[in-house]
Amino acid sequence: MKVAERVAVVTGSGSGIGKEIMNRLTAHGARGVVVDINREAADKTVAEIKARGGDAVAVTCDCTSKSDVQAMVEQALAHYGRIDILVNNVGIVRDNYLTKMPEADWDLVLNVNLKTYFLCSQAVVPKMMDRQYGRIINISSRAWLGNAGQANYSAAKGGIVSLTRTLALELGKFNITSNCIAPGVIDTPLIRSLRPDVQERLAKMQPTPRFGTPAEVAYAAHFFASDEAWYMTGQVLYVCGGKSLGIYGH
Ligand SMILES: NC(=O)c1ccc[n+]([C@@H]2O[C@H](COP(=O)([O-])OP(=O)(O)OC[C@H]3O[C@@H](n4cnc5c(N)ncnc54)[C@H](O)[C@@H]3O)[C@@H](O)[C@H]2O)c1
Repeated sequence: MKVAERVAVVTGSGSGIGKEIMNRLTAHGARGVVVDINREAADKTVAEIKARGGDAVAVTCDCTSKSDVQAMVEQALAHYGRIDILVNNVGIVRDNYLTKMPEADWDLVLNVNLKTYFLCSQAVVPKMMDRQYGRIINISSRAWLGNAGQANYSAAKGGIVSLTRTLALELGKFNITSNCIAPGVIDTPLIRSLRPDVQERLAKMQPTPRFGTPAEVAYAAHFFASDEAWYMTGQVLYVCGGKSLGIYGH
């Protein structure tokens, strides 16, 4: 799964899944642009990569801001000269049942979880077109199939699947692929912020009764990011312990 010398932008790579994707890509020779709204977290990711002999640079960016995203792309190009791989990964949760969901939480989750994928893709894709090469990997969620209490999150993650498929149709002729990963419950700070009893219930809700690891998602991202994955585009790859298969247990 060749990614050596490729330049990879991973949004939200100061923590969790994005961080692990960045760790894996740079461990296999990619150059990393660690993008996060949290500067301290991005710097930490870069320091850890460099300590292992990898190559990465931190860029502070609120991916909901078009001007921030444009500045981020300029910084990445100034540093490495090109962008080969874009992993759209930022995401938050504001869970509630429909009748209790504040409009502000709908807007926030759609903005952070879906609009950022549009803004970052729109800023990066012209640079990929210039070089006739690109790999876009969007982190959706198994929740796109529907999750009670997550109307905002599920809708955003479904939107990511549609965006991914549309970009695949538009960009294939430029040697740019667009694929999607749909993780199940992955052991990250996002999940650990939930109530302990909710965590315990979630861990039992799939045929493989445990949380997945960020490394297991990073493995799938590495595959889609690789040179060899050129003939796969517009796909959704589940990394969810079988949770996408249907109702399990009771
Ligand atoms: N953890 C899971 O179980 C799980 C399951 C399915 C999908 N996902 C998805 O995986 C992705 C990563 O989730 P995670 O669990 O690693 O989360 P996380 O909270 O550990 O990391 C998210 C990172 O994104 C950054 N971020 C948030 N808003 C940002 C913004 N506007 N601009 C730039 N950076 C921003 C945060 O600072 C943080 O470093 C999300 O899209 C999430 O929806 C997670």
